Amino acid sequence: MNSTNESTNSGPVSGLLAWAEVQEHYDRVRESHLRELFADDPARVERMTLDVVGIHADLSKHRIDEASLSSLIELAEQRDLRTRIDEMFTGVHINTTENRAVLHTALRLPRGESLIVDGVDVAAQVHAVLDQMGSFADRVRSGEWTGSTGKPIRAVVNIGIGGSDLGPVMAYRALRHVSKRDVQFRFVSNIDGTDIVESTHDLDAAETLFIVSSKTFTTQETITNAESARSWLLAQLGSDADVAKHFVAVSTNADAVQSFGIDTKNMFGFWDWVGGRYSMDSAIGLSLMLAVGPDAFEDMLAGFHAMDEHFRYADFDGNLPVLMGLLGVWYRDFFNYQTQVVLPYEQYLDRFPAYLQQLTMESNGKSVTHDGTPVGVDTSAIWWGEPGTNGQHSFYQLLHQGTSISPADFIMFVQPVNDIGDHHDKLIANVLAQANVMAFGRNDDELRAAGTAEDLVEHKVMPGDRPSTTLMLDRLTPYALGTLISLYEHVVFTQGVIWGVDSFDQWGVELGKAMAGQLLPALSADDVPDLSGFDSSTAHLAMRYRQLRGR
Ligand code: F6P
Repeated sequence: MNSTNESTNSGPVSGLLAWAEVQEHYDRVRESHLRELFADDPARVERMTLDVVGIHADLSKHRIDEASLSSLIELAEQRDLRTRIDEMFTGVHINTTENRAVLHTALRLPRGESLIVDGVDVAAQVHAVLDQMGSFADRVRSGEWTGSTGKPIRAVVNIGIGGSDLGPVMAYRALRHVSKRDVQFRFVSNIDGTDIVESTHDLDAAETLFIVSSKTFTTQETITNAESARSWLLAQLGSDADVAKHFVAVSTNADAVQSFGIDTKNMFGFWDWVGGRYSMDSAIGLSLMLAVGPDAFEDMLAGFHAMDEHFRYADFDGNLPVLMGLLGVWYRDFFNYQTQVVLPYEQYLDRFPAYLQQLTMESNGKSVTHDGTPVGVDTSAIWWGEPGTNGQHSFYQLLHQGTSISPADFIMFVQPVNDIGDHHDKLIANVLAQANVMAFGRNDDELRAAGTAEDLVEHKVMPGDRPSTTLMLDRLTPYALGTLISLYEHVVFTQGVIWGVDSFDQWGVELGKAMAGQLLPALSADDVPDLSGFDSSTAHLAMRYRQLRGR
């Protein structure tokens, strides 16, 4: 094997000496059931539980022992993770294919701190925009900002997609309990006309504010939905209505905002060093700030920052994002587990798995390293999930007895937001039970001893040995939400460094967009289009669509 001890983040990770060592540990550890790992090590839970900025993280139910975990940490050292972290936090252009800094951590620097990047104090820029957002949010929330007829705003509609939608909607839903309940918040993303129609059909245009959120302000879905929103508004309010009172923009592209017809004084900016999927705590979170107010937004930023500091400075053996990131690599590349499931036992986090899907898979769903050579090992797991307990009555059967194993992240809160009856104790009993059953299962002897009918024993065997993390937090506050999101951002970063991929580009989404752009005129043209440039299947489907639409 072409092994080397040198620190490097380019080229295939499998060439590192530490990779071979991790492989040796895998060959050993895979023989041990979690039952044995627990039996052999009475101090396991204590040793493998971390308390990090309000998150009590139990990593003991992982198929790993001390020696194999140390080999993974050595892999991170050999991949020079520490240097890569410093580079991210200080504004080095680590998004190499787009030649950009990656500075979402600067979005939550405390007021008064400065960070000079390329000669500019980015922290000061961030706080200037936060102040602009704060004063706008106060005006809307107090009723001082009115629509064109003088009515206060009673509905806020965020129009955006991907990172300009998933973060805001996830966080809004997570923090509904601290939101302004007399204002409705809606989120429109899909280009399917149903989304904008269903999101506006019951709204009064005179009381509605649209936030058009798009980093580039060129995204087809967002611009199309924004145009339809403007038509809807003018249809209700008359063509001379003051549209400026009903539309604001969040973008890095002032020219495009202006040409759309939104006054740039009603624009909230951010910067090319904020990736779309890392932008919910930038001005892209304006809808969230309108919902929860500037103070709660600031609390959320403080949570993000606390986790940032932990990630930046904690030793790897006590560094939660690093350890969770390495466990992901361990399962993906050594155990060959293909998916990772996220199971929040908190209804308010119902969109958290969807948010994580973009964060993880758009970041690390890559096949080549920074220098364009094949990664050579498997990269991002497929992330999925649903809030508990709903999933228990649907896909948990596969989690427990299926042939595919999916490591799980269970997320739970000690204090219920809505403390009614014994709901919360029942919820917590369920999450603890599921993690227990995944790990330890039931074997045939135990089933027989419990009197199980012989013909059902094999059906009822629960193999166990299915790994999980349990994250226990106190209460779902804005601060706690910030810590959780930041945790996963840094898990993704850690994994991207190990694999040596650019976690901050997304070239894989471009071809489909371009192809849709080429097909669109062919679908709507009056004359029979020339589809010879397309494969016969696509051409056939396009022609059938035209025919059935009477074209
Ligand atoms: O198509 C993918 C993507 O570029 C995401 O990375 C991004 O979050 C989303 O589209 C929306 O982009 P924008 O904010 O520029 O409209």
